Amino acid sequence: MDFQLTEEHLMIQKAARDFAKNELLPGVIERDEKMIYPAEQVKKMAELGFLGMMTDPKYGGGGMDTISYVIAMEEISKVEAGISVVMSVNNSLVCWGLETFGTEEQKQKYLIPLATGEITGAFCLSEPEAGSDATSQRTTAIDKGDHYIVNGTKNWITNGNSASVYLVIAQTNTELGHRGINALIVEKDTEGVTVGAKENKMGIRASDTHSIMFQDVVVPKENRIGEDGFGFKFAMKTLAGGRIGIAAQALGIASGAYELAVAYSKERKAFGTEIANHQAIQFKLADMATEIEASRMLCFKAAWLKDQNKDYNMASAIAKVFASETAMRTTTEAVQVHGGYGYVKEYHVERLMRDAKITQIYEGTSEVQRIVISRSVLR
Ligand code: CAA
Repeated sequence: MDFQLTEEHLMIQKAARDFAKNELLPGVIERDEKMIYPAEQVKKMAELGFLGMMTDPKYGGGGMDTISYVIAMEEISKVEAGISVVMSVNNSLVCWGLETFGTEEQKQKYLIPLATGEITGAFCLSEPEAGSDATSQRTTAIDKGDHYIVNGTKNWITNGNSASVYLVIAQTNTELGHRGINALIVEKDTEGVTVGAKENKMGIRASDTHSIMFQDVVVPKENRIGEDGFGFKFAMKTLAGGRIGIAAQALGIASGAYELAVAYSKERKAFGTEIANHQAIQFKLADMATEIEASRMLCFKAAWLKDQNKDYNMASAIAKVFASETAMRTTTEAVQVHGGYGYVKEYHVERLMRDAKITQIYEGTSEVQRIVISRSVLR
């Protein structure tokens, strides 16, 4: 066991922290309020290598470990979860999925620009009637010999408008159920692809979340990821890693709110002393510190297992459910510590509280994580 971060980890932490403080903090309130996609900041994030952190350098990535990714996700999410979700989807759903299961041609054509951040990608699994019940895909990909014809609608797609490439999960053979599902790489500017209106969300408002419509979209067979019928397993395997990214995002949201609460409690006075001197506040801070530390350890454990090529399916679900529930509790208490100031935008904690909620929902709700965990327990 070694709880010490390496020199390289500390450098990544500093780079992410500096980026968040200098480039994200100044405009974060306005981007949240007006739902402005942080295009300029995403470009800078790409220059820093944060969009393809774990991808092999031969495909334009940083070749870093998953621990580094957790560290960077935490720092960036402390300030702006609306941009860290762009980072998370691009790194762990899109780049990792393509690098692990794609062909060499797919990697050359798509992974390199995605990992360098020249373009971003989106992961299209959810549908109006298929969220947690992900095997019930209505989107179809009909096999026409050398190509597929895709029809259907995908919902709540992160990077929906900004992405150039979509990884689309669709049903080819209904008789085979989930074994008849395929994962296809679809370029956004293909004829028949339409981006729906931007969702007006509670939190992570800077990220662009859209529905995507596919009408008679021709997708060449060479754009299928893996064997025929591998699409559902592709989605599940990819999401198992994605959940480490979202767990780290939740960790960052929680630790960002906690740091603000600690600083505020040392400044604000009530009943003749700083509120940090009151046990009512001290116990809140103690609970926050305890749960955040536990979340961080769970994120590192899941990341470490992934880096060791060990089974991380259960560990990533545990990290996500615990960190996201910690984020919700911690941000709510951080608002409470701030009192009336916590309820207004300038103090950041109300935004973090709104941002926290989605971490209990996307990439598998807390209930879905409990399904994954209990199946592992009872297997
Ligand atoms: N790795 C490999 N294979 C897996 C797997 C995994 N982690 N999990 C399941 N599978 C396989 C199973 O082995 C099974 O295959 P076989 O029948 O061949 O053995 C197949 O997948 C079906 O599995 P289940 O029978 O367990 O399927 P289920 O219908 O009971 O559903 C579920 C399981 C865990 C609930 C799953 O549907 C799920 O994870 N749902 C949530 C989906 C989700 O996370 N959506 C998020 C959307 S993406 C997003 O949010 C991105 C964003 O923009 C931020």
